[in-house]
Amino acid sequence: MKSRLESSTESELADSANDERTDMDYHMQVVTKDDKARVLQFLRRFFFRDEPLNQCIELIPEGEDSTCIELEQYCSKSSLENNLSLMAVSTSGAIVGVLLNGKVEPPSDEDSEFITTCKNPKFRKIVRLLKYVDRNVNHNEKFQGLNVLEIRIISVDSNWRGKGIARALIEKALEIAKEKGFHFARADCSSYFSGKLCSRLGFEPIYKLKYADYVDDDGNPVFSPAFPHKAMVSYIKKL
Ligand SMILES: CC(C)(COP(=O)(O)OP(=O)(O)OC[C@H]1O[C@@H](n2cnc3c(N)ncnc32)[C@H](O)[C@@H]1OP(=O)(O)O)[C@@H](O)C(=O)NCCC(=O)NCCS
Repeated sequence: MKSRLESSTESELADSANDERTDMDYHMQVVTKDDKARVLQFLRRFFFRDEPLNQCIELIPEGEDSTCIELEQYCSKSSLENNLSLMAVSTSGAIVGVLLNGKVEPPSDEDSEFITTCKNPKFRKIVRLLKYVDRNVNHNEKFQGLNVLEIRIISVDSNWRGKGIARALIEKALEIAKEKGFHFARADCSSYFSGKLCSRLGFEPIYKLKYADYVDDDGNPVFSPAFPHKAMVSYIKKL
């Protein structure tokens, strides 16, 4: 399987000169606002259901053809129009992977308006967890004044997993971020697999929250994702 980057703004990948194509070939593209509908359609099919936290709280109940508007807003918010997000597209034109990125906002102790106005109780749990992790990552203002790329969403079509698509998307995003002058890249990994991938790509773990230790007022874990997802780990890489 081979990948290429098709975008007027980015350099081509080394193997793009090879014209032999197979059914499992893909190229990478920068996501633009014109891609919004199909990117969200892709994420509704995969990420909304199979990301470990979404899956364990059944954000989209099994067998139900519904969505989570708040997660759609979270995905759209500053990630689809900043030329930092990428998608992998097969030779037949189908999206097979999506990586949504953005710039880390300056830390704040207040709950964001997004949390306070979130009407979906399941998704509110997730944004609260993200905020909790963010506070701990930034507790000593380590990254103050620095430009940090935030890897927000990573999702690969279940038929295309294990073929290096997530890796290729992250590597390309790091290259783009470096060109744009970002100092660091950060990924808060809810999945054991995305964490493993970040480690392999030279990211360092800077904060780890075991799901068993993140409990509600009654002392029960708020999230109990399926094995092997045991912790949310924040990774950082200097660019
Ligand atoms: C995590 C995810 C994006 C990885 O995509 P991918 O294209 O399959 O990843 P890669 O092929 O680049 O592989 C990364 C590594 O993880 C492994 N891996 C990824 N998903 C795996 C799975 N479901 N089961 C077993 N191993 C898996 C790969 O084998 C590879 O490890 P290796 O180098 O030791 O072989 C994909 O599994 C996915 O979409 N998961 C659901 C959404 C999600 O959890 N997103 C991350 C939230 S932080």
